[in-house]
Amino acid sequence: MTTATKKRAPQTQPKAAPQKVHDASPEAIIEMRGIVKKFSNAAGEFTVLKGVDLMINKGEFVSIVGKSGSGKSTLLNMITGIDHPTEGQVIVNHTDIYTGVSESARSKWRGKNLGIVFQFFQLLPMLTLLENVMLPMDYVDMYDFDLRPVRALALLEMVGLEKFANKLPVLVSTGQQQLAAIARAMACDPPLLIADEPTGNLDTRSADTIIHIFEHFVEQGKTVVMVTHDPSLTSRTDRNIILSDGELIDETVSRSLPQLRHRHMLEFTKLVQRRFYQPKETILSRDETVSHFFMIRKGNVEVVLQKPRSKETILSRLGAHEFFGDIELLRGGKSIANVRAGSEPVEVLMIPREDFSRVMDESPITVEAVSKIVQKRLEQHRMADPRRVKR
Ligand SMILES: Nc1ncnc2c1ncn2[C@@H]1O[C@H](COP(=O)(O)OP(=O)(O)OP(=O)(O)O)[C@@H](O)[C@H]1O
Ligand SMILES: [Mg+2]
Repeated sequence: MTTATKKRAPQTQPKAAPQKVHDASPEAIIEMRGIVKKFSNAAGEFTVLKGVDLMINKGEFVSIVGKSGSGKSTLLNMITGIDHPTEGQVIVNHTDIYTGVSESARSKWRGKNLGIVFQFFQLLPMLTLLENVMLPMDYVDMYDFDLRPVRALALLEMVGLEKFANKLPVLVSTGQQQLAAIARAMACDPPLLIADEPTGNLDTRSADTIIHIFEHFVEQGKTVVMVTHDPSLTSRTDRNIILSDGELIDETVSRSLPQLRHRHMLEFTKLVQRRFYQPKETILSRDETVSHFFMIRKGNVEVVLQKPRSKETILSRLGAHEFFGDIELLRGGKSIANVRAGSEPVEVLMIPREDFSRVMDESPITVEAVSKIVQKRLEQHRMADPRRVKR
C-alpha cells in the first residue's frame, strides 16, 4: 500500500472514493454478485450479462472463454470499472467499486489497483516505450519522480525489452509492443492483472512469452484474469471460466464433460440438482435402478464391489470433476456396484436420466468420450467379478 492510496477523499465528496466491504470474502480478489448488464440500441433493450455470480481468489490464474458476443469483454469491463453494471455489486480487492463512487475516483482507484492489457496494445505512438511505461505512475502520482524511469526500465527488462526502451512503438514488432503494454500495466505494481485477448493478435511464440510472464506474476502471488480464444493457453491456467450467452457455466459441468457444446453445458448448469453425503454414506446401491448422471463437485467417492461371503473390493476412487452413473445410463440398467462417499463429505451434481440421454443424443463426441471411460471401468469390474459382468 502506498501513501497515495491512504490519502483521504476530498471533504466535499465524502463517498466519492471506493469503500471497503465488510462482508467480502477474505480470500477473494474479485467478487461479482448478481451482475446484470443491459444495453439499449435502436431495436430496444437487450441483456448481455444475465445475473453473473463469480468469485476469483487471490493468486489464481484464470482464463475466460466463450463465443464471440457471449459477453466476455463486457464482464471484464465490469471488473475494471471501465463500464458499470445495470444491477449487482462488484467487489475488487475488498472494495465496492461502484456504490457511491464517482467516475474520476474510480479511474484513480483503477490506476493503483489494476493492470489492464487489451488485444490492441494502445501504446501512445508519440512516446517511447520507457515513457509509455512511466505514464501510469505519473497519472496516479506513485513513486518518487526520479525513481519512475528507473522502475520503468526495470519493468521493460522484466519483459526483455530494455534495449528498446528509447524506441517509439512503431519501431518494434507487435509482440514487443504487447510486452511493453504488459510492462505498462504493471507500472504501479497492481495485485490484479486483467487482460482481454492479450495474445489474439500475436504469433504463437510471442503468445507463449506473454503467458510465461503471466505465470511469473502468479508465482509472485498476483492474480491474472485473461480472456482468450486459444485452447493451448486455457490449458495453462488454474481455472477456466466459460461464458455462454451472458451466463456462467458451472465449472464442475464443464470439467466433467468438456466435449459438450456450451449451450448444452449451460442447460446442464440450470438443470443440476445438488446433493450432499456424509463420509461413507451410500450414494448408489448395487442393483438399484439408476435415475441420474452424477458429477462430483467436492470430495471423493468409492466404487465398491461386495461379493457374497467375501470381503469388499474397492474398484476405484473418483474425485472432483469425475462422474459416475454413466455405465448404467449408457447401457440402460441397474447399478453394477455400490457407490459411497469416501472419508470426507461429498457434494454431487445430478442430472435426471431423461435430460442426460436427450443431450447425449445430440453430442456424439461426448458419448464417445464417456464410452471410453465406461469401457475402462467395465474392464475393472470384469477383473474383479467375472461372473456378473456380461460383455
Ligand atoms: N457499448 C455497447 N453498447 C451496445 N451493445 C454492446 C456494447 N458493448 C457490447 N455490446 C454487445 O454486447 C454483446 C456482448 O459483447 P462483448 O463485447 O462483451 O462480447 P465478447 O464475448 O467479448 O465477444 P468477442 O469474442 O467478439 O470479443 C454483443 O452483442 C455486443 O454487440
Ligand atoms: Mg471481447
